[in-house]
Amino acid sequence: MQSKDESKRPAQPRYRVPFVSFRSAQKDKQFDTILKRVREMYENSQFILGPQVEAFEQSFAQLAGCAHAVGVNSGTDAMILALRALGIGPGDEVITVANSFIASVSAVSLCGATPVLVDVASDYNIDPDCIEKAIGPKTKAIIAVHLTGLPCRMDRIEQISKSANVPVIEDAAQAVGATWAGRRVGGIGKIGCFSLHPLKNLHVWGDGGVATTNDPELAERLRKERNHGLKNRDEVEFFSFNSRLDSVQAIVGLSAVEMLPDVIAQRRKNAALYDSRLRALKGYLEIPTPDKKAFATYHLYVVAAERRDALRDHLDRAGVETKIHYPIPAHLQEAAKSLGLSRGSLPVTEALAGKILSLPIHENLQEAQILEVCDLIEHFYQRSIA
Ligand SMILES: Cc1ncc(COP(=O)(O)O)c(C=O)c1O
Repeated sequence: MQSKDESKRPAQPRYRVPFVSFRSAQKDKQFDTILKRVREMYENSQFILGPQVEAFEQSFAQLAGCAHAVGVNSGTDAMILALRALGIGPGDEVITVANSFIASVSAVSLCGATPVLVDVASDYNIDPDCIEKAIGPKTKAIIAVHLTGLPCRMDRIEQISKSANVPVIEDAAQAVGATWAGRRVGGIGKIGCFSLHPLKNLHVWGDGGVATTNDPELAERLRKERNHGLKNRDEVEFFSFNSRLDSVQAIVGLSAVEMLPDVIAQRRKNAALYDSRLRALKGYLEIPTPDKKAFATYHLYVVAAERRDALRDHLDRAGVETKIHYPIPAHLQEAAKSLGLSRGSLPVTEALAGKILSLPIHENLQEAQILEVCDLIEHFYQRSIA
């Protein structure tokens, strides 16, 4: 039986180095400001698409280097509404990758269009050569997923998009604040799609998303797409969803925009520390190697590891939490059966799925924790070399 004192003791966390950590001194400081703004919103009863959403959209547009930002209720909806705003539907094809969160693919299917899944390059992002080969008369868009916070090779992708006259949608769900050749993601393609999910570098207290664009007509369309197709209070131009960003989440999002530079700086510092130690394990473990043009934000720090599952167990036993993003590529999911892509059709993606491992990279990690993870990985491989 537990003694009275034992029952009062907080449960020991399962991991000494957890994969995520939501609380920080900076976030705790913002908490009171957020509550004050929520009270003001409550007192003015501005629950839906009020000044809080507008303020958040303005600051997010600046962040993404875009003229317009439209707050919606998730990153997935941002993608669906972007595809719809571009008039994509049944009979159309959209080129994207299987090495992503399922929403990059399901958004296409949910619009009635066909996802055409192509392989990734050595940076784990869409391979521009594969896009070129996949473009055909039915291609109506390319979705470039900036996975882990690393921008895709946007100069090549832009060239392909221009010469084929096919727009690019950027799935920037994991990449807020990242840049390619000094240009911010979300403002490079026709429409950028962001997620505000709690696991993202810039997050709210639930679900949320943003669609960004420099095209005023598309911005207008996206505003209607998220709000029943209404062009004013009473007139409906087309049938659409209710996918508005809540005012409460917009308030939280505004604070998150203010904190993002610190979050990114810390994650990049953590990544540099991992790099400096893990580089020596080349041949056993490959670290991320961003192109010189890329400013990566490290939503994730993904390594490709020999004997990945054994390494993961070793870290787990030592109290280090890791994840795999993503163990089953989209084309091998049951939901994607109708695409007819069997095992072997995307060799790079499939080979990566057996090797990739996401190490903890969050902004609240202590230097000592990262060094401990590096020690453990070194010991694992030293033992296997011996
Ligand atoms: C690459 C990618 N695309 C799209 C999404 C969908 O975003 P949400 O979860 O906000 O719908 C996510 C979120 O996990 C993502 O990582």
